[in-house]
Amino acid sequence: MTAHRILLGITGGIAAYKSAELVRLLKKSGREVRVVMTRGAEAFVAPLTFQALSGEPVRTSLLDPDAEAGMGHIELAKWADQIVVAPASADFLARLANGMADDLLTTLCCATEAPIALAPAMNQAMWSNQRTRRNIDLLANDPQVQLWGPDQGSQACGDVGPGRMLEPAALFELIAGANVGALSGKRVVITAGPTREPIDPVRYISNHSSGKMGYALAQAARNAGASVVLISGPVALDAPAGVDRRFVTTAEDMLKASGQAVDEGCDLFIATAAVADYRPDSIASDKIKKTNDAMNVAMVRNPDTLATIAARPDAPFTVGFAAETRDVERYALDKMSRKGLNMIVANDVSVQGLGFNSDRNAVTVFWEGGRETLGPDTKADIARLLITKIADQLTHKETS
Ligand code: PMT
Repeated sequence: MTAHRILLGITGGIAAYKSAELVRLLKKSGREVRVVMTRGAEAFVAPLTFQALSGEPVRTSLLDPDAEAGMGHIELAKWADQIVVAPASADFLARLANGMADDLLTTLCCATEAPIALAPAMNQAMWSNQRTRRNIDLLANDPQVQLWGPDQGSQACGDVGPGRMLEPAALFELIAGANVGALSGKRVVITAGPTREPIDPVRYISNHSSGKMGYALAQAARNAGASVVLISGPVALDAPAGVDRRFVTTAEDMLKASGQAVDEGCDLFIATAAVADYRPDSIASDKIKKTNDAMNVAMVRNPDTLATIAARPDAPFTVGFAAETRDVERYALDKMSRKGLNMIVANDVSVQGLGFNSDRNAVTVFWEGGRETLGPDTKADIARLLITKIADQLTHKETS
């Protein structure tokens, strides 16, 4: 069900100005919006802005007798179908995670039975700080809470990294229910990143996959209500909040970890990993010395995780990726049929700035009798749209 009465909490951060656009989008869609601001938020944007856009008085204080006489805080907590806090500062997340009710917004979050969505926004170092991570872990395991974002990118302070609030249009899409609950109760296993195939104790064969596409999908699936296991090759990314990440190194490790995760229960298996097709036939026990001008490494085929999972008698719904530099559609469709997949996402990786090790991507997703092209866009946005498409096809298969 799509939420109609939205209580928008705004906390102190430069992204607060973007929330004005979110209120505009929500109102335009016919929704009722009430805004609650913390003292920090008021330092960035005047309440009058949100009053004008929402058409309702903005609440800023718990102990305001006039406002309480209109709609008391408990009544307000009951009124909301959905609470969205955007931007959610590190301080607010800390207070919420610890069950504090020391201002109007945290009190409402304690008093409501509505789902609470948080759109974190902060400096990348604050987002990575171990105390923030601890609070995020607590919130990610709170069944009433969903974490929407943050995105990666350049920040107001000049830093680059995770911590940007999702754009208002993306938040609107999430509120509007495109994704919310689309995978509710589903168990999803996702592979991501590269594998490393050792040659000797210090060298390996690998590729340029950063894991960003798979991690974005894991976050989007989690936001859509799924419980998510992420089988990750070696990458330098934080685990998405609320996602059970399991690191692997080689293709053989990936097959084993994926099989185990599927054995634990899996409705949907998505393979974004760029798995090495071959591995050295043997691994030298000592570092190989440069004795000759040329060197040959004998290679053997690696097992195919996705094809193995798709061939199981209890196979989940399977979605593969295909990174190609030419004849993208033909090769992708061939992989879908050879591996027995329900869907395949074709990635033209010949385009500069898209695909491997980039924040952006453009894909075409194929299923029996259908196709759709998505992007170019951020991987976070592509992931949200893909999860919506995949959830539609999964439901279609389950109900037909
Ligand atoms: O990680 P990023 O930097 O964000 O980049 C994302 C990406 C470009 C790696 C990703 O979007 C992508 O396209 N992944 C597929 C890479 C690929 O070329 O896969 P493939 O054509 O070798 O394999 C086809 C499918 O089988 C893939 O779903 C793959 O995960 C799976 N596979 C392949 C081989 C193997 N041994 N085991 C597998 O599971």
